[in-house]
Amino acid sequence: MQQRPPARASVLETVLLGATVFVPTLAQGAILRRPRMVRLAARFDTHRRAHRTLARVRSRHGAGPVSVTVPGRRMLLLLSPQDARILFTATPAPLTPANREKAGALRHFEPDGVLISPAEVRPERRAFNETVLDRGAPAHRLFPVLTPRIREEAQALLALHHGSARPLDWDDFSAAFWRIIRRVVLGDAARDDHRITELLARLRADGNWLNLRRPKDRTRDAFLARVRAYVDSAEPGSLAALVAATPSTEATEPVGQVPHWLFAYDAASIATYSALALLASHPEQADRVRTELAGTDPAQPATADALPFLRACVLESLRLWPTSLAILRDTTADITWHNGTSTPADTCVVFYSSFFHRDDQHVPHADEFAPEAWLDGRNEDNWALAPFSHGPAKCPGQDLVLFTAATLLAALLRDHKALLLLPRRPLAPPVPLPRTIDHTSLRFALLPK
Ligand code: HEM
Repeated sequence: MQQRPPARASVLETVLLGATVFVPTLAQGAILRRPRMVRLAARFDTHRRAHRTLARVRSRHGAGPVSVTVPGRRMLLLLSPQDARILFTATPAPLTPANREKAGALRHFEPDGVLISPAEVRPERRAFNETVLDRGAPAHRLFPVLTPRIREEAQALLALHHGSARPLDWDDFSAAFWRIIRRVVLGDAARDDHRITELLARLRADGNWLNLRRPKDRTRDAFLARVRAYVDSAEPGSLAALVAATPSTEATEPVGQVPHWLFAYDAASIATYSALALLASHPEQADRVRTELAGTDPAQPATADALPFLRACVLESLRLWPTSLAILRDTTADITWHNGTSTPADTCVVFYSSFFHRDDQHVPHADEFAPEAWLDGRNEDNWALAPFSHGPAKCPGQDLVLFTAATLLAALLRDHKALLLLPRRPLAPPVPLPRTIDHTSLRFALLPK
């Protein structure tokens, strides 16, 4: 049968896509956010502009995928949940997550990470990640020992502001969250190892340039040597100890999986902080959180089904402002899309997260803060919603992220009420929720109840 190519973006559409989708996404920093660019992106609500362009392309060409000619690269933009479903389920073949641009970005600090691993070693590395991260278990085995550590860090953060008029800002929050990340992943001994975070930040900054920068071998070696030392000391109650104890083969590169966890966990701090802003702006949902907290015993460790509404608030924060700006795949063979069009091997396929998550054609509550939709079944089986991806490359860290975020928010909000000081424009109706948020400018007053 004759294969039909997808619709092609016109020259004008290609220019618009470059100006409103590709350039702003890369400028913000896909791997390490550049605060000034994030501020600028929020000021112009660049995701709203990107959305307008993509909606325009869809209304002209229909819901099938659209190919875009970028010099040296065949790109395909997905515009419908039916094609998103194909992207997620046809992974890792004929759609590999080890996409060329992603590999170019991540090799700077995690050359052996499962996400960019070749097909021959991917199954072993995926299985290793799933084992350490307890994917599929009702609760991660470390939750009981991690709960008090997260609460300790919350108390330390609250103590900084206790009795002072100083607002809670992003720098303090992010520093506290990094202490949690290092303790969970590497152990308590790493709590104040700012150096490892700094080394990773330098490598991530290079990752923003994809393949255009050469990896800094010495910095990467220094970073990986530090990670290895923590795995060697295998402090009980940390992921590092589980790495040391989990059987692996030579191809697994167990230590080489850890950098991704440190990097990806950082996104959870943005999602948690933005969720705090949503709760500070939505009194009805904040009341529901208070009711949920009143029904839980703070002396008990968090269980798998603990704090469902708070976890849904974090998922909702990730839906509204996805931290994975795009999910990318490369085709390894011909693939046919839902409208019968086909693309050949070596095509870069793009799921642009914020377009899908805020698409009111497929998400009725697109621009509302609707955490309950994660609990009442409305968001189920909706392939447009993918804060943690779907299918065989779905994030195996999801439960750990939602547990960490909900435990921290619970500890902050149990005895306090969050008041959003900035932005002054409220993040609540009747003003529509912005599609782009500058988390670094959010400021709060935490008032005792
Ligand atoms: C807010 C925080 C996080 C978000 C939004 C997130 C999201 C994602 C997404 C969207 C993917 C799939 C990418 C794709 O389909 O190409 C992914 C993959 C992955 N994530 Fe996460 N993640 C987060 C945190 C974490 C954490 C904390 C860990 C580990 C402790 C983790 C471990 C992984 C691993 C190992 C993969 C690769 C899976 C594979 O290639 O099979 N993530 N994550």
